[in-house]
Amino acid sequence: MTSPARASSRRLHVACIMDGNGRWAKRRGLPRTAGHTAGEEALAGVVRAAAQRNVGWLTVFGFSTENWVRPPSEIRHILGLHRKLFGRIDELNANNVRVNWIGRPFDEPYARTPKSVQRAIVQAIDDTKHNTGMVLTVAFDYGSRAEIVRAVTRAHHTSISAINAELYDPTLPPVDLLVRTSGESRVSNFLLWQAANARVYFTDCSWPDFGAAQLDDALALVST
Ligand code: IPE
Ligand code: IPE
Ligand code: MG
Repeated sequence: MTSPARASSRRLHVACIMDGNGRWAKRRGLPRTAGHTAGEEALAGVVRAAAQRNVGWLTVFGFSTENWVRPPSEIRHILGLHRKLFGRIDELNANNVRVNWIGRPFDEPYARTPKSVQRAIVQAIDDTKHNTGMVLTVAFDYGSRAEIVRAVTRAHHTSISAINAELYDPTLPPVDLLVRTSGESRVSNFLLWQAANARVYFTDCSWPDFGAAQLDDALALVST
């Protein structure tokens, strides 16, 4: 396996569909919420590891436009974990990570991000805005088809560059590597436009068990 330290110095855009929290918990006889808690901790570890490798952009699927149908108690727990994630400011600053967010814009009719998460997102973006290292983009209340429909509607003409300019964050570079954990080989409405030419890495590893070693295995796909 290629050592990431020796690999190309090009800064990569890695996107993760963090799946399998519920099954991870079930296998341990724990409630699904325990899986989400472990998943948030795994993410903190992956952010640290990615920031130390040649990853310039890490984009993670935190909560989809389809996930609102889950039981209210599970959603409440996940919302709390996002506040926790966006509250890890000291850690993010220590790793020179700049926080970013994509999802249905707060002031638009179908947007569903609750005020408390909105505040945490805005605060984290502001508290990390001077960092110059990796950009951590959390997709929350995000769905790629909604993003593309909105971009096409707003674009001045139907060219790739005009549509690109109307995506939630047009500064995100194309995805180099798309990772999905927990054995599902589907892309579930995540970054369909941005990942048009991405390498795709599916692993049976559950998200709560995904760490630096698993990230290195995934990066080996694009680092040779
Ligand atoms: C991913 O884990 C977390 C979110 C979608 C918020 P899941 O909750 O989908 O876990 P599984 O897929 O049911 O195991
Ligand atoms: C994808 O996982 C969404 C997130 C990781 C936030 P899901 O578990 O919601 O996806 P499906 O239902 O298997 O497509
Ligand atoms: Mg799932």
